[in-house]
Amino acid sequence: MDFNKGVSKSLCWLNGKIMPTAQACIPVSDHGLLYGDGVFEGIRFYQRRAFRLSEHLHRLRDSAAAIGLPLPLDRAALETAVAELIEAIAVPEGYLRLVVTRGEGTMGIDPSSCKRGNVFIIATQMELVDAEKRQQGIRVIIAATRRLPVDGLDPRIKSLNYLNHILARMEAGNAGAQEAILLNARGHVCEGSADNVYIVRDHALLTPPVSDGALDGVTRRVVMELAAQAGIACREETLAPYDLYTADECFLTGTGAELIPVRDIDGRLLRQCPGGVYLDLQVRFQALIQWETAA
Ligand SMILES: Cc1ncc(COP(=O)(O)O)c(C=O)c1O
Repeated sequence: MDFNKGVSKSLCWLNGKIMPTAQACIPVSDHGLLYGDGVFEGIRFYQRRAFRLSEHLHRLRDSAAAIGLPLPLDRAALETAVAELIEAIAVPEGYLRLVVTRGEGTMGIDPSSCKRGNVFIIATQMELVDAEKRQQGIRVIIAATRRLPVDGLDPRIKSLNYLNHILARMEAGNAGAQEAILLNARGHVCEGSADNVYIVRDHALLTPPVSDGALDGVTRRVVMELAAQAGIACREETLAPYDLYTADECFLTGTGAELIPVRDIDGRLLRQCPGGVYLDLQVRFQALIQWETAA
């Protein structure tokens, strides 16, 4: 993800005040910064309305509960903050990064000295890949860096710890690819560095189960809904790299990514890109966004 492109146009809601993102500061003793101790959501807005806000706030609540982090704001206050920020930024479409840190504390990982988390929401433009790649499909590698084991950190927690995802993404960049797929310790497919992965095989849509190490993505769920509406068989299935290499189609899903077709994986060209199932779902996805965010 490249947020820098939009920083000049970016606004930040920080603990109740809206300001240019470049002026938004939190103390260096915040454990979110010192230890990656906190949770976050990435949320898109279209037509000046947040898409699937309820699902994102639900996941934020659960992520915070899972790490024992009291949210400093209730759901209504978070909804108000999101609405105020979208109102303040002069663009109809964009990306929101909602972060809740553990807050300021003393040195040492024990969070008991952190009395109140900091909450900030950055509103910015988000272009994960350029329009041409979005149409033609992206190059993907399978990273040597593995995802954290599910019995080490539950993949449903959307925490501020992304280091192994960052290392995987760096591997992709070094290989001239746009995204990396992470495997779990058993060599099964988990997800991309910031997106979920789907393949199409024999007209069925397959994605790894969360228990293999995938985030329970909001967009992943939307795609399941859309597949059901389209009469496309869709199921969770453990996948090996072989399944990716031999798939008819592959695409990634995420709030930042939306739906992105994959052209090749580790140099193996996929049979179809963009494939028929992807194109069908992409049209439905765009229609759903327009419908759900219409005033
Ligand atoms: C590791 C990871 N997997 C998957 C996703 C996609 O999830 P969602 O569709 O909820 O954005 C994200 C999004 O940030 C992510 O960070």
